Amino acid sequence: MSKATTATGRSGSFKSLTEMVQLAQANLPRESWDYLMGGADTETTLKRNRLSIDSLQFRPRVMHDVHKVSVATSLLGQDMRIPVFLPPIGSVQLFEEGGGASVAKGAAEFGTLQILSSVCTPDYESVANASAAAKVYQLYLMGDQGWMDDIIARTLELGYVGFCLTADTQVYSRRERDILKGWRPPSGSSALQSDFGHQARMNWETVAHIKEKFDIPLWVKGINTADDASRAIDAGVDVVYVSNHGGRQLDHGRGCIDSLPEVVAAVDDRAPVVVDGGFLRGADVVKALCRGATAVGMGRLEGLAMAAGGVPGIVRALELVEQELVTTMALMGAASLDELNPAFLEAAASVVAPHVLSAFPLLDEAY
Ligand SMILES: Cc1cc2nc3c(=O)[nH]c(=O)nc-3n(C[C@H](O)[C@H](O)[C@H](O)COP(=O)(O)O)c2cc1C
Repeated sequence: MSKATTATGRSGSFKSLTEMVQLAQANLPRESWDYLMGGADTETTLKRNRLSIDSLQFRPRVMHDVHKVSVATSLLGQDMRIPVFLPPIGSVQLFEEGGGASVAKGAAEFGTLQILSSVCTPDYESVANASAAAKVYQLYLMGDQGWMDDIIARTLELGYVGFCLTADTQVYSRRERDILKGWRPPSGSSALQSDFGHQARMNWETVAHIKEKFDIPLWVKGINTADDASRAIDAGVDVVYVSNHGGRQLDHGRGCIDSLPEVVAAVDDRAPVVVDGGFLRGADVVKALCRGATAVGMGRLEGLAMAAGGVPGIVRALELVEQELVTTMALMGAASLDELNPAFLEAAASVVAPHVLSAFPLLDEAY
């Protein structure tokens, strides 16, 4: 299917993830597309996320019964149909007007966990009631400790199953695609870009305070090193989340999958380690699981799925990731998630130049 023939309607009928990207691009205005796909400064971190995933190849095993491959898992007691969750996306309503509520519906229908951004619409109360999916609330600190405490207490009342601090965004980065157009995302942009004082002051005492005062699983998103992973465990963090914000914050950072081995070793089974950053295909997810991640976040995939098909688009995208995941594992000779380990991987030169869309080499072909 060529770009010229893509429809602007939204449905979950795309045949492949490549077609999902084509539909998303056809449906989005340039500003929203650039906001979704872009990164900070030179976009080196963004590309490095892909480069580090593409620089691992599989060492498959054979003659192993794979007639049934099981990929269901759970995270802190929350069932997940596949080890993939939907990360927080600010201004997600740009991609489909239902915003965080549509993601919540898609997450429930497919059977996975959603992390809701504090900078999108509708608000966290409406999203709590939008579906039965397990939801974590990610908050940017835009008020004092009392302000934060009130919100955590309210999310607990509303049934959120976790609370997430984003540590890689203490100040807002420079995203040139947006700057050059004079464009800002609609939700929280002024607070994020000019009044980021509380978020910039966030530190391990913030973590200690939350752990002392609230009985809610705490995720810290944006950890990249063994030292910070150990510190997080010492502070009582419940989920160590390896991320570089999809290359949208610190430029010239590490590829996230390359941070996994040292973080997983430092955490040493004391908490689940999850990861995001550049994961767009089922095989990408398998690589992170081989390196010890419990689950993988797919941020741009979530935005692309929303733009391509709204709620059915989210469900369809996750179904396709599931098909790719199961097929990859079967062809590697692994019938269950607990068989995955680092011995299935080895370093290799990437066969493609890294790019935000290099996971979709057929994008410009006319099928
Ligand atoms: C459009 C967009 C908006 C985002 N907004 C947030 C946000 O509000 N809070 C947050 O913690 N992370 C945010 N992120 C980062 C994602 O949660 C996630 O870390 C990232 O998308 C993972 O990389 P990937 O897009 O390559 O999968 C955003 C990412 C994108 C693409």
